[in-house]
Amino acid sequence: MDPLDAHARFGPAATPLTSLFDPFWLAKPFLHALDPEDAHEITLCALESGFVPGQPGGDDPVLATTLFGRALTNPIGLAAGFDKNARVQDQMAAHGFGFVEIGGVTPLPQRGNPRPRVFRLPEDGAVINRLGFPGDGAEVVQRRLHRRGRPAIGFGINLASNADSADPAADFVALAQRFAHDADYLTLDISCPNTANGLVFLDPSRLGDLLARLAEIDWGASRPALVAKLSPDIDDALVERLVATLLGARIDGIAIANTTRARPADLRGASAAEAGGLSGRPLFAESTAMLARVRRLTGGRVTLIGVGGIASGADAYAKIRAGATAVQLYTALIYEGTSLVTSIKRELARRLRSDGFGSVADAAAAPAT
Ligand SMILES: Cc1cc2nc3c(=O)[nH]c(=O)nc-3n(C[C@H](O)[C@H](O)[C@H](O)COP(=O)(O)O)c2cc1C
Repeated sequence: MDPLDAHARFGPAATPLTSLFDPFWLAKPFLHALDPEDAHEITLCALESGFVPGQPGGDDPVLATTLFGRALTNPIGLAAGFDKNARVQDQMAAHGFGFVEIGGVTPLPQRGNPRPRVFRLPEDGAVINRLGFPGDGAEVVQRRLHRRGRPAIGFGINLASNADSADPAADFVALAQRFAHDADYLTLDISCPNTANGLVFLDPSRLGDLLARLAEIDWGASRPALVAKLSPDIDDALVERLVATLLGARIDGIAIANTTRARPADLRGASAAEAGGLSGRPLFAESTAMLARVRRLTGGRVTLIGVGGIASGADAYAKIRAGATAVQLYTALIYEGTSLVTSIKRELARRLRSDGFGSVADAAAAPAT
């Protein structure tokens, strides 16, 4: 078995000995007996209350990197969707992330799709969700952010249009203006499979129109970095057209990828047929291949964020070697808790050094092997 192919060895997670004192492993049987959304709400409340101890601090210097001009002590980020309403960004800093992306935030509050709408597939290390952006809306989220101040780590805000919006591009423009000075970067979520407006900007001409409208914004003193998040469910020809459109509009970053509508034939989880976006281990290979393709198309002109199925340091390393200067994860946390962040960082540092790289950026820029 190729040791770099972390997914070949991934089974239902056994409790690591080093994590016996991690409250997550005590709480997991209880949490996983609940509806995933209820379990998530309890997790957020526990994090908010300060009840969950953080991870040991201090990152290996080889993990240091830069994301949109912001120095990070490590390249591991919390992906959008975990903290939709900016409730626990500071706590996630204490759990060892180098950056956190909150959201998706919509202009107006909305309830999202009917429940149940999140499903665990434990046998597959995966989740299916069709949340449809339930959230507090931009005004409440911004008030919360201003009350707390910026977290001490890299910070991104994921933007999404309201499900019933007649002009989703106007939603993105309004959100970008509102949050322009609240984050290091803003992500345009143009790849959500779960709402009526979620995928409309995968049409290159509509994306071009959106980017033109964003380019007209008067940003004042400083313009935030703009990132577009792509869907893994598009063919190579469309990837090429979308990337060309993004490069033409001088977008700063591309995040690859969002959840997938695809259902690999070997899924074993009982909920595999549920509608929605699939995340976690089954997304790893496809999203990493797509990342490598986008690297070839962009040739270093934009920052790439690798996301999809990361559950180990080997996975994070594979994304970095495919061209990502920063990576994100969400689903694996549901199965392994935040001690995973510490083990990912340890393994990533070891792999960078053993392959002779002095930094994450060097590994991301090196030709693929
Ligand atoms: C429950 C859930 C909610 C999500 N919500 C968002 C979201 O609001 N905006 C977004 O861009 N991605 C969202 N995502 C996608 C993740 O950010 C990420 O791209 C995807 O899950 C793949 O990473 P993972 O395999 O590590 O989970 C969500 C994922 C999950 C599981």
